[in-house]
Amino acid sequence: MAVRLFEARDHAVSYQKYRFSAPENLQSVIFSYLEEKKADSIQLVVDVGCGSGQSTRVLAARFEKVVGTDISEAQIEEAKQAASFPNVSYQVCPAEELPFEDGSVDLITSFAAAHWFDIPRFMKEVDRVLKPRGCVALSTYSANLSIHYKDCSERLTEIFTEIWDLLFKYADEKVKIVIAEYKEVFESLPFQDKQRVTQILDKIPMTVSGVIGFIRTFSMYQSFLSIDPEAAKYLLQKTEQRILETMGVCSNETQVEIWLRSVCILGCKGP
Ligand SMILES: C[S@@+](CC[C@H](N)C(=O)[O-])C[C@H]1O[C@@H](n2cnc3c(N)ncnc32)[C@H](O)[C@@H]1O
Repeated sequence: MAVRLFEARDHAVSYQKYRFSAPENLQSVIFSYLEEKKADSIQLVVDVGCGSGQSTRVLAARFEKVVGTDISEAQIEEAKQAASFPNVSYQVCPAEELPFEDGSVDLITSFAAAHWFDIPRFMKEVDRVLKPRGCVALSTYSANLSIHYKDCSERLTEIFTEIWDLLFKYADEKVKIVIAEYKEVFESLPFQDKQRVTQILDKIPMTVSGVIGFIRTFSMYQSFLSIDPEAAKYLLQKTEQRILETMGVCSNETQVEIWLRSVCILGCKGP
């Protein structure tokens, strides 16, 4: 069953502000795969669960025509308002009912979103809309990331892990698909030619306030916020304070690095 946790306007605004686009090494894995599959004449790319469009825009810089789709009107509204490219458009629609003809799409991508879909129904759509030899790339960030700053990375990572564990109480069941590193997504992809790449490490520069904003975008934080707004806001304030104290700095604009591992399911439809 599909789950809808990204409808709120404020959440979409946080998304646009704090969610980064597909990191570079993840992009390299996807683009190398497409080269290997000789998918060099890609015309139409569909980015499913595109959110506020951060990764859709990366694709637009590279391919002829890109359509970002998402079930959330608020997310698509944010995506449309961002500066973009003329070859991108957006549509509100469920991943399980894509508004494309049979055999009309060259590449389907989904970044940090496929676990939210009704996976069997989405896979049927992937198979239906892709052209023969069309490709798919479905990625997620793995749960354990680390925060790096001078000699206090271990302590900062412990703080992050503590917050993650606390918020995990509010996580939807679907987050387990991420924890299991997309095994279910891989197994459900109905193509013979497929692979699951699990060790894609990226380092993302971010300010301390960016880290706090990133936590704010987590669906499990949003669930906590709707159940106990005061406690949720206090948690973020306290976390920022703890991070700054650990780093021995005053400004939340101080830069840290987030080290993040992605998992990507790659596949190519048969002839
Ligand atoms: C974690 S966000 C990822 C957004 C963006 N791709 C990124 O990389 O940051 C997940 C997105 O999937 C969308 N989504 C969830 N279920 C969906 C469904 N069944 N069909 C289409 N989009 C869906 C949500 O509305 C949300 O925007």
